[in-house]
Amino acid sequence: MTSSAPLTQDQLKALVGRAALAYVVPGEILGVGTGSTVNCFIDALAELKDKIPGAVSSSEASTARLKALGIPVFDANAVGELAVYVDGADEIDGQGHMVKGGGAALTREKIVAAQSRRFVCIADASKKVPVLGRFPIPVEVVPMSAQQLVRRFAAMGGQATLRQAKGGSGALVTDNGQHILDVAGLAIADPLGFETQVSQWPGVVTVGVFAHQRAQVCLLGTPEGVQTLTF
Ligand code: 5RP
Repeated sequence: MTSSAPLTQDQLKALVGRAALAYVVPGEILGVGTGSTVNCFIDALAELKDKIPGAVSSSEASTARLKALGIPVFDANAVGELAVYVDGADEIDGQGHMVKGGGAALTREKIVAAQSRRFVCIADASKKVPVLGRFPIPVEVVPMSAQQLVRRFAAMGGQATLRQAKGGSGALVTDNGQHILDVAGLAIADPLGFETQVSQWPGVVTVGVFAHQRAQVCLLGTPEGVQTLTF
């Protein structure tokens, strides 16, 4: 009898990245997210680059990766509705609601998701949760509002911290020139209500709960292979 080693998290990411190729619509511009799982998808997408006109990207990092593989990148304003958006998540619940923004790209991710008919989430099984909030909720904020927002989150039981740039050079600055608060200690029982409420606070650019822009499909990398969840 032979026993094989369990797949690593990186192997699960590669598996779902490749599985998402089945959702690419030939002839249609594709929405592309950000992160290490999406990097696996982009690398696999190179095989289909002659089948699509190109992509709308959610970050400078994904744009650079797409272009390096010869996949044209379009300005979101230059194109209409997209058929499909493929992106990862930090958490996903049983209804397709997600926490996103671990890679600081949440604002452009939500914009491209909103421009797309179908959100295909790719994630390894560690991202599937019963209730959102174990992963601190990323919130992109206008810098002058940060401490006011820290107090608002504290009033609802959350501990918000300002995300720092790697290398000790101070607060992280997003592709949009803003800052990120990471809010720990909240269990998001009502993702739609939470997203709606926090989005209205002055200074909030984007809250990293994706309930209005939830996934319609999740390709989940499990030890048994790719599980397809539909919502
Ligand atoms: C970036 C994101 C990513 O999709 C999320 O952080 C998951 O990343 P990874 O695939 O590296 O685990 O929201 O802002």
